[in-house]
Amino acid sequence: MNRPVLEGLRLNVPAYVHHARLVAWVAEVAALTEAADVCWCDGSAAEYERLCGQLVAAGTMMKLNPELRPNSYLARSDAGDVARVEDRTFICSQRKEDAGPTNNWMAPDEMRSLLQTGEEALFRGTMKGRTLYVVPFSMGPLGSHISHIGVELTDSPYVVISMRTMTRMGRGALEVLGSEGAFVPCVHTVGAPLQPGQKDVAWPCNATKYIVHYPETREIWSYGSGYGGNALLGKKCFALRIASTMGRDHGWLAEHMLILGVTSPAGKKYHVAAAFPSACGKTNFSMLVPPAGYTGWKVTTIGDDIAWIKPHDDGRLYAINPEAGYFGVAPGTNDHTNPNCMASLKRDVVFTNVALTDDGDVWWEGMTETPPAHLVDWQGRDWTPAIAKETGAKAAHPNSRFTVAATNNPVLDPEWDNPAGVAIDAFIFGGRRSTTVPLVTEARSWADGVYMAATMGSETTAAMAGGNGAVRRDPFAMLPFTGYNMADYFQHWLDLGQRIAASGARQPGIYCVNWFRKGADGKFVWPGYGENMRVLEWMIGRLEGRAGGADNVFGTSPRYEDLRWDGLAFSRDQYASVIGIDRAAWQQELALHAELFKTLEYHLPAELPAVRARIEERLGA
Ligand code: OXD
Ligand code: MN
Repeated sequence: MNRPVLEGLRLNVPAYVHHARLVAWVAEVAALTEAADVCWCDGSAAEYERLCGQLVAAGTMMKLNPELRPNSYLARSDAGDVARVEDRTFICSQRKEDAGPTNNWMAPDEMRSLLQTGEEALFRGTMKGRTLYVVPFSMGPLGSHISHIGVELTDSPYVVISMRTMTRMGRGALEVLGSEGAFVPCVHTVGAPLQPGQKDVAWPCNATKYIVHYPETREIWSYGSGYGGNALLGKKCFALRIASTMGRDHGWLAEHMLILGVTSPAGKKYHVAAAFPSACGKTNFSMLVPPAGYTGWKVTTIGDDIAWIKPHDDGRLYAINPEAGYFGVAPGTNDHTNPNCMASLKRDVVFTNVALTDDGDVWWEGMTETPPAHLVDWQGRDWTPAIAKETGAKAAHPNSRFTVAATNNPVLDPEWDNPAGVAIDAFIFGGRRSTTVPLVTEARSWADGVYMAATMGSETTAAMAGGNGAVRRDPFAMLPFTGYNMADYFQHWLDLGQRIAASGARQPGIYCVNWFRKGADGKFVWPGYGENMRVLEWMIGRLEGRAGGADNVFGTSPRYEDLRWDGLAFSRDQYASVIGIDRAAWQQELALHAELFKTLEYHLPAELPAVRARIEERLGA
C-alpha cells in the first residue's frame, strides 16, 4: 500500500493498517489542519495510561486518591464548554426540507466553505502545534451485522481516552474494517491552534462552535468544543444523527433509548427499550433495583442511552447498544436513586466538572444528604455549604458527568455484547412533565403509540446549554438527535410497524410513562427509581395478557388494583393524582400537539392527525 508522507509530516501509519482510503483521508485532514504530529490509537491499556498521564501533566485532569477512587480522574472543562450546543448543531443535507424544521440547516457547500474549503476556513491550521489522533471505533459489538465502524480524527487526548471507554476503540475496529470496509469519517478539533512556544491552557476550546453533519455523505465535522456529545463523535453525532439517516435509508432505527432486560421469578426474560430526553433518568432506569417484595425479579442493563434496532428474518426487532460505556449525569446519583451506578463508579472513572473533596475524592449535589464541610468546586474555587447558601453556587456543574466502562456495572446483562442483539418486547416513551401526562398508558395500537411518542413533551434540563425547565415538544426524545426531517421520521416508524405486522410477528407493546408529576406542594408524588418496577411488572403482565387496566382517552392505564403495592405506602388518592386525566389540561395539550403538527406539516403522516382527532372526540364525549 502506498503510504503517503506529507511535506515535513510523517503520517506514522502502523504496519497493521491496510485501508488505503483511510490513510489518504488522514493525510488530507492532517494537511488541512496542519497537525504537528499524527498518532494512530490502538486502544491498548498502555496507550490509555500514557494519555491520562499526559492529561494530568497538562492540567486537564487530576488523579483522584487511589485509595478512595482507584484508577480515576477528575477533569475540569472551560466554564463556557459544559454541555451540548444545540443551537450550534447543523444538519447539512442538500435540501433544507430533508433536515426539516427541527434542525438547524445550512447548504453543504456553504458549510464546507466555512469549515474546510474557504480561504479562512475554520479547520485550516486548526491543529497547529497539536497531535492529530486517529481513533478507529466500532459502534456496537465488533463484527455484529447491526454494528458500524467510525474513525474520529481529533486533537484532544481527553476525547481519545473517553472514546476508549465509550466505544470498542482501537485495532479491533481496524481489523473489522479490513482494507475496503466502510466507515463514518468524523473530524474533531478543539479549535485552539498553538503557535510555536505558546503555552497550552488546561481545557482548550473555542468560543465559536460548529457541530456539523452531512447526512448524504455520512460525515461529521465538529469545531470548538471538547465536551461530551459535541466532541465524542461516536455518541450523538454518529450513533443518533447520522445513524438515524442510515436507518431511514436501510429500514432500521437509531434511537435515544436505554435497553434493559427484565427477568421474572419464573425465569421468563423480556427486553424493553425506553426513550427519555437527556437527564431524565435513563441510566437510573436501566440499572433499576427492584424494591423489597420483588424477590426473584431481576433487571439487567444492555444500554443506558442509545439503541440501534434492526428487523430480523423472524420479523422481530433486535437491538444492540452501540456504546461500550456510560457518559452519565452525576448530580442526583446516589445509593438510593441508583446503587448499581454508584457501584460502577467505585474505580476506573473519568469524572468531568464534579467537585473535589479535601481527601482527593469526588462529590456532587445529591450524592449524600449532607455535603462535606469543604470542597473545591467544578471551577476550582473553594466551596462550603455556607457559600452555597449565600450565592446559590453549585459544587458540581448540573451537567457534570462520569465516563465509565459498561463492564464496571454489576448488573450488566450477559447479552450486552451479543452481536445478534436482543429481541425487543416493548418500547417505553417518557418525558419530564409535572402535570397532565399519566404515570403509565399502554397504546391501543402501533399508530397510537407512534402518536404518543411523536407528541411527547418534556421540561428541559442542563444537558443542553441553556436548559431551564420549560416544556418543549421532544418527539421520541429525539428532538436534538434526528438527523433528518422529523415528519419523515414519524413515517419511518409507522412503516416499520406495518412491516412487523406484515411479517406475522407480534409488534412490541408501546407505553407512555411520566415519573415526574408533582403535587400541590411542588414535590414529586411518584417515588420513582426502584419503585418504577411496579410499572414495569404491569407492562409485562399486559404483554402476557394477564394484567388489567381501564381505558382512557388515549390508551389503557392500570387501575389502583392492577399494580402491586406490597412494601410501598401509596394511597388511592396519591395514585389518582399521578394517573388521572384532567380534561382541561388535555384540551390544552391537544392544542399543543396541533401546533407541533403544524410546524411539521410537510410530509406529516395523515395517521397522526387522525389519531389526534380520535382522542379529541373521546375527550369531548
Ligand atoms: C447525553 C445527552 O449525554 O442526552 O446522553 O445529553
Ligand atoms: Mn442521551
